Amino acid sequence: MASSSSALLSSLLVLFSILLFGFTEARDILVGGNANAWKIPSNESASLSLWAAATRFRIGDSLVWKYDPKKDSVLQVTKEAYTACNTSNPIAAYKDGNTKVELDRSGPFYFISGTEDNCQKGEKMTVVVLSPRHHGSGSSAPAPAPAVAQEGPALAPTSGVHGLRSGFSLVLLGSLVGMMLL
Ligand SMILES: *[C@@H]1O[C@H](CO)[C@@H](O)[C@H](O)[C@H]1NC(C)=O
Ligand SMILES: *[C@@H]1O[C@H](CO)[C@@H](O)[C@H](O)[C@H]1NC(C)=O
Repeated sequence: MASSSSALLSSLLVLFSILLFGFTEARDILVGGNANAWKIPSNESASLSLWAAATRFRIGDSLVWKYDPKKDSVLQVTKEAYTACNTSNPIAAYKDGNTKVELDRSGPFYFISGTEDNCQKGEKMTVVVLSPRHHGSGSSAPAPAPAVAQEGPALAPTSGVHGLRSGFSLVLLGSLVGMMLL
């Protein structure tokens, strides 16, 4: 009796850890932290890849670009095209001045300016989304200090689909726990 209730307790603990670490709100992240960041960087330290390297991205987050659609665009490209600033055959092209791209998987994403000359001058960005394994790997590990870039007003938690999804997962979890108790 005692052993079965402690088994139940540890299952519940596991489920709650999954809940804590697995269902965090998706965010809209403004590229570079401000509306004028998609441009030729004035120097090496203003590079957007440096900004991206200091920012922690999660699956489900969205990148948001604001730029003048008459002068610029955003291309998602392969690593090869990123390195060569090859704008001829992008994975996706965005030209509306208010671009939103969801980071729907882990791994690297490559973005360049649709203006080849701008890309050659450094208007490009690599974003790496860590796999869920890398997050909260063990509740004993100290939580890393949140990057400053993640705390700014540029971040707005999105509700809607993701909120519904976590709500649904909660209901699912509830039924699961209910079933275990029977
Ligand atoms: C690089 O450019 C940024 C933005 O224009 C500026 O604030 C910074 O002082 C510059 N850094 C160096 C080392 O020139
Ligand atoms: C750019 O990419 C296209 C297709 O991906 C390729 O055919 C072309 O040769 C590349 N151009 C350069 C300059 O590498």
